Amino acid sequence: MDKNLPVGVIDSGVGGLSVLKVLQQALPHEDFLYIGDTARTPYGQRPEKEIRAMVHDLTDYLDNAGIKLLVVACNTITVLGTESIRNGYAFDVVGMSKGAELALGVTKNKKIGVMATPFTVASGAHKAAVNALDADAEVFAQGCPDFVPLIEQGVFSGAAIEDAVARYSAPLKEAGVDTVLLSCTHYPFIRAEIEKGFGESVTVLDPAEATALQARIFLERAGLLKMQGTGRSRVCFTAELNRGKAIAERMLDMERSSFEEISLL
Ligand code: DGL
Repeated sequence: MDKNLPVGVIDSGVGGLSVLKVLQQALPHEDFLYIGDTARTPYGQRPEKEIRAMVHDLTDYLDNAGIKLLVVACNTITVLGTESIRNGYAFDVVGMSKGAELALGVTKNKKIGVMATPFTVASGAHKAAVNALDADAEVFAQGCPDFVPLIEQGVFSGAAIEDAVARYSAPLKEAGVDTVLLSCTHYPFIRAEIEKGFGESVTVLDPAEATALQARIFLERAGLLKMQGTGRSRVCFTAELNRGKAIAERMLDMERSSFEEISLL
């Protein structure tokens, strides 16, 4: 495996840019090749078979382009299982951290909320990860289907977001959670609104840093970590290039990023 190849990063759309931002900081010398499938977002309300087929398009593209590691910057894709995503390719796969250790380190009452797509919630993966570490912790997972379409449109605040935050936070408040995991990579774009909705007694957590750390450890152990040079990111969208680029400005170091529209088919 060539150390100079980029690290591939995938998401259903712009959400993974919140992870790419953290990856750029944690791995400053690495090049990244990001694909956001903006033509087919959102994935999180689709049946598993459809999601798998779309993920296959993304990973085949990256395999042809050449990458040394794939970071799945999407919880919905991650819960399919990293080995099945790897699908025999030469590169390894790091999925989104479930944030279990992070949340258990913060919660005082052991009541943890998970905000995610309906697909991720139905998988039960986050609850299982928390309970594997602490069987007494209670996990309350809330599907938030209205968030991703708004964020993809570049809507990060205002009445529609406030209304959705109020609806999705209500059952979690009712359950008495003191900690909430943002288990969809789109949600950090509206983190301030979510924090406002819960109020100061609830801590909102983003597992992107834990994910970037896992990617760093993997590259170090495999002898694939780049130690010099300024890393560059090639950011590809499958539709709506200008909208994607405008949204990326909120997250990325634009000096180190280039943008293009690609077709997967
Ligand atoms: N950003 C994705 C996640 O972390 C999925 C959003 C979607 O396509 O529904 O789950």
